[in-house]
Amino acid sequence: VTRVLLTGAGGFVGHHTLEHFLTTTDWEIVCLDSFRHRGKTDRIREVLDAHIDNPDWIDAEDWSQRVRVLTHDLRAPISPQLDSEIGYVNYVISMASESHVDRSCVEPRPFVENNVALVLTLLEWMRERFRFDKPQKFLHVSTDEVYGPAQVGFNHVEGEPHRPSNPYSASKACQESIIYSYWRTFGLPLGISNTMNIIGERQDPEKFVPLVLSRVARGETVKIHASVDEHGRPVSIGSRYYLHARNQADALKFLLETQPFPRYGDRASMGRWNVVGEREIDNLRMAQMIADFAGSKLDYELADFHSSRPGHDLRYALDGGKMTRLGWTPPVPLAESLERTVRWTLDHPNWLLP
Ligand SMILES: NC(=O)c1ccc[n+]([C@@H]2O[C@H](COP(=O)([O-])OP(=O)(O)OC[C@H]3O[C@@H](n4cnc5c(N)ncnc54)[C@H](O)[C@@H]3O)[C@@H](O)[C@H]2O)c1
Repeated sequence: VTRVLLTGAGGFVGHHTLEHFLTTTDWEIVCLDSFRHRGKTDRIREVLDAHIDNPDWIDAEDWSQRVRVLTHDLRAPISPQLDSEIGYVNYVISMASESHVDRSCVEPRPFVENNVALVLTLLEWMRERFRFDKPQKFLHVSTDEVYGPAQVGFNHVEGEPHRPSNPYSASKACQESIIYSYWRTFGLPLGISNTMNIIGERQDPEKFVPLVLSRVARGETVKIHASVDEHGRPVSIGSRYYLHARNQADALKFLLETQPFPRYGDRASMGRWNVVGEREIDNLRMAQMIADFAGSKLDYELADFHSSRPGHDLRYALDGGKMTRLGWTPPVPLAESLERTVRWTLDHPNWLLP
């Protein structure tokens, strides 16, 4: 049976990835997380309890037998004991990271050090593993933010130069550079996916969708970031592409199942894939959609993004043509998955607590 090591499994995207793999494959998943950064064991527990809410998932009662949860802070090397607990794996998904831009601006040093150290730990482990018991594919999860802002009408294709604007995106760009160097130097089967903004249930409350939702639910004013002229009038409002975490998980599964992860020497370039959202939505429109799905009124004010969020970019954009040409189609549409996320979160308000 296929076995996968999933780092960052207690995080927002990680636990959706776990759920998607459990529902759509027979893979066994080794979940590794520090549970000291933003990871929560409750996310994994709720996935494993899912059959209680979803009686249709008849196999779900056995899910816990396909899942192993290991607690380890990846800043420290993987010991021989932990290595034997991980056991044989076919695939590695490198998803653990500190992930919040604002926090990276408040305390850049531990943030960047964490993201660099954890990827080095994982690559050193991969290098050792590859000598005798070869994981076939190592897929690292990165972000559109490494490319910096995209001009209106322009979408980045895979492999363009990085121009990160804040310590978070710089730390992700560092991770990518280190991965590329290990691909080039040590001939490991590594690849990188870059993804746009992800939405879904149990997201950390400091991220945009839960933040807007808790504000509209409490009748508070929502700040919308825009560039404004000297009279405070909006010149342009920030925009993002969004996709549900299940689409992201499905893209990872597609890549692992269908794509070769060439080693240096087999092919001149490392595998890189953009995983894109369905369509571009400006932040005001997104906030309005969240308020509408919540059945609440949206009160908002425009805030100049230069002064209120230094290091933030008004627009990120990736070109998704490569994945489309390879034959990947996202399983869930955006509006429907946003509506489901909003309704689910209102029914489970404990996930809005800090
Ligand atoms: N959420 C998004 O919109 C988005 C978009 C593009 C890319 N990404 C990338 O996807 C990944 C997951 O993002 P997320 O939103 O789920 O973030 P998250 O913060 O919810 O999850 C990250 C997980 O990594 C774990 N982690 C951090 N440092 C660790 C360490 N030293 N050792 C072990 N575990 C550690 C955390 O505990 C947490 O569980 C990140 O790599 C992020 O850069 C996220």
